[in-house]
Amino acid sequence: MELLNKEGEEVPNVVTIRPNGPVVITGNFTIIDEEGKELEKRERLSVCRCGLSKNMPFCDGAHKVVAR
Ligand code: FES
Repeated sequence: MELLNKEGEEVPNVVTIRPNGPVVITGNFTIIDEEGKELEKRERLSVCRCGLSKNMPFCDGAHKVVAR
């Protein structure tokens, strides 16, 4: 099932690993936490991979403190 943005264009399914930052996921996907519960649905989200976020599993920008 395709996901459309506000302009009615298809949002491609893409996973991007940012240097010294999060994994950014766009498209039509489902993210499940460690207890099997579906987390909120968005067309784009950033997953923390530095371990410093106070909003796990999502990136809150804390990686920028150590990335310099
Ligand atoms: S990757 Fe951004 S807070 Fe961890």
